[in-house]
Amino acid sequence: MRVNLENACELLQTGNVVAIPTETVYGLAASLSNPEAIEHIFTLKGRPADNPLIIHVADSSQVVCYTKDIPEDFEVLANTFWPGPMTLVLPAVKEWVPSIVRADLDTVAFRIPSHPLTLQVLSNVGPLVMPSANLSGKPSATRPEHVENDFSRDLPVLDGGECYRGVESTILMYNINRWEIVRLGALTPEIFETFLGYKPRVNEFIGEEHPVCPGQLYRHYAPQATLILDADTPPESIGAVVGFSNRTYPDSCRIFELGATTDPEEVAKNLYGTLRLLDSEGIKAAWVDTSFPKAGLCSTIAERLRNASSKDSES
Ligand code: TXA
Ligand code: MG
Repeated sequence: MRVNLENACELLQTGNVVAIPTETVYGLAASLSNPEAIEHIFTLKGRPADNPLIIHVADSSQVVCYTKDIPEDFEVLANTFWPGPMTLVLPAVKEWVPSIVRADLDTVAFRIPSHPLTLQVLSNVGPLVMPSANLSGKPSATRPEHVENDFSRDLPVLDGGECYRGVESTILMYNINRWEIVRLGALTPEIFETFLGYKPRVNEFIGEEHPVCPGQLYRHYAPQATLILDADTPPESIGAVVGFSNRTYPDSCRIFELGATTDPEEVAKNLYGTLRLLDSEGIKAAWVDTSFPKAGLCSTIAERLRNASSKDSES
């Protein structure tokens, strides 16, 4: 059910869950002050309770109320990249951040999104917890229709059009005197170097039993279709290709274009929509062109495709 800004705010203030746009992906929002609504998010998504949520706020002065021992360069990062697709994990003041939000960890994650509608909702309603608005394990939603496909038509959705970035925020955490990236995202590791004086290490903690970013434990972004990332498999033997508009593929294949290899921003924006299209078109398996340089935003795209093709740890 599509709702306008006023309805969305009223619904959130009265303890409902509402899907709202951000510049990265749609989020499933609940007011931080409403524990029942927060619980409802976990149920709706089928999200494991050990996977914490990001608190979204309208300005960084609100972050300070919920955190202590603010790490070095927090202000540099906050002033430079907020509002925007950056999430910072900080030590929590536990009395102020319900344990369900932080999955009982000592830390809590924050982001100020830059979508104008989201900022208005946050200014009107106050802090919101907001995971991506998709069923757990599935590709994230970058259009209102994606949200509606995953959830019942009764779920209120604030229509903000197509998400401009298309992949989630980059998550950073401070670890022994340095910021580290614990989830690749819309901001590249390189971009932080100018402001921090070093390029943050990418620490995805893959394969660890208790990764620092708990979400890494779970299968993510995966369509029903099997994705074949093996460059040695001939695409003709699969029949469908997820590839690039500036490349050619066998005529016998159905091509699903992400955009041109020369335009990673466009590819990121189209990524989840393309994975969802495979399913709506009834494609059972697709060969994915992964032969592109894995630098900058392309490292995020490659990581999402790897994750989406994995059949492990389904959540
Ligand atoms: O772009 C985004 O970040 C989107 C939009 C809606 O803002 N949100 C999003 O939320 O991607 P979600 O819940 O799908 O992913 C949040 C990730 C999870 O992998 C979770 O484990 C991690 O953030 N996270 C949250 N709190 C954390 C914490 N205290 N320590 C480490 N990781 C945390
Ligand atoms: Mg998610």
